Amino acid sequence: MQTKRVKTAVVGCGIISHVYLRNMTRLFSILDVVAVCDLNPELAQQAANEYGIPHVLTLEEIEASQEIELVVNLTPASAHYGIIRRLLLSGKHVYTEKTMTAQLDEARELVNIANEKGLYLAVAPDTALGASIQTARWAVDHGLIGDVTSCIVSINRDQNLNAERFRFLRSAGGALPYDVGIYYIQALLTILGPVAEVTGFGAPARPRQRQFLFNEYDPESWQIPGNNLVAGSLRFHRGALGILHFDGNTIGAECSTFRIYGTEGILELGDPNCFGEPIRLIKPESPPCNLPLTHGYNGSCFIDDATDFEKGYGNRGIGVVELAWAIRKERPNRLSKEMGLHALEVLCCLDETAASGGVYRMTSTFTCEPLKAGIYSSMWGGGARADAELSLVD
Ligand SMILES: NC(=O)c1ccc[n+]([C@@H]2O[C@H](COP(=O)([O-])OP(=O)(O)OC[C@H]3O[C@@H](n4cnc5c(N)ncnc54)[C@H](O)[C@@H]3O)[C@@H](O)[C@H]2O)c1
Repeated sequence: MQTKRVKTAVVGCGIISHVYLRNMTRLFSILDVVAVCDLNPELAQQAANEYGIPHVLTLEEIEASQEIELVVNLTPASAHYGIIRRLLLSGKHVYTEKTMTAQLDEARELVNIANEKGLYLAVAPDTALGASIQTARWAVDHGLIGDVTSCIVSINRDQNLNAERFRFLRSAGGALPYDVGIYYIQALLTILGPVAEVTGFGAPARPRQRQFLFNEYDPESWQIPGNNLVAGSLRFHRGALGILHFDGNTIGAECSTFRIYGTEGILELGDPNCFGEPIRLIKPESPPCNLPLTHGYNGSCFIDDATDFEKGYGNRGIGVVELAWAIRKERPNRLSKEMGLHALEVLCCLDETAASGGVYRMTSTFTCEPLKAGIYSSMWGGGARADAELSLVD
């Protein structure tokens, strides 16, 4: 018997919504996208027309809908708390873009509401379910680098320059650790499990001095809230030590670093903001090699001609699909509220220890099962699409 599809609505029809909507309406059997919503109804109508979605609704109408079970929240982080809270209180399961909220106490409240009401709340990024990060998890779980001893991750951007184009970066949740560092933290959590202790140093964003490139005649000035530069340390429950370095106050030529060290080897990962970056295995007495990817969803979308944007972001939406199957199978979902809360706690505690000194002992924890290996999303050497939804079912 065919599983009943999950009636789904999307709130927020901005830049990232396109790759989600394209995949969610055309790639997966479990989702039935029935409505879109945006503060700007024209944007929502355009999305409905482009992706063949029957209804444009307000948030109130989504809350009142009897048929919608799951809502995908693609609004800026500063809007997340209010929207997610309303949706949970109206009985909807929620998948939200990162970070769950901009404030830890708000995230804790949302987790409590979801628990009380028996609802799912899943948190992006879903690149953690992509081929690269799942392959790295597989390699670590299967002992390819022995016992993990340590890890180091680093990313840099000119976040002030990015905030010229992406205005939401000027509000809470827009600093580099929250906007981009979260991909690195989420990937580390997926591969190495929960963190026990955190400490960090931080520095704020520089006030925006001048405008160039995009909004040349925009008179507004801003300072991205929070620490835009963080240097931190982690101790994982399993004993490994970690270094985090997120610098949003430097230039925009990104130099992504991601290494996991073990007693028998080193894994080098690519940018965890992507799905199919190579995973390099370094051993003592042979040349480094790229591991074959053990999982599907390597970023290729195989629908018509993917735009350059979609090539990088190709499989966004697989976290929604994994959640939809969790709802139907009544099993835990992988990008769980507990994991989203834990990732946010790491970020917030970097800020807290940067301000107060000392070491913060984490209060939250989570588990995240790996996806089943050996189910691929392309065939014929990447020349055609295969159906990897099966890897998201159980
Ligand atoms: N742009 C990217 O490359 C990218 C990549 C990955 C994740 N994200 C995340 O996705 C989310 C959205 O990013 P974006 O780039 O699409 O932003 P965007 O500003 O382009 O789009 C956000 C949309 O949400 C709408 N919105 C805001 N508040 C709303 C409300 N209360 N009700 C209904 N609609 C509301 C806005 O009108 C806007 O159209 C953010 O959390 C961001 O961190 C963005």
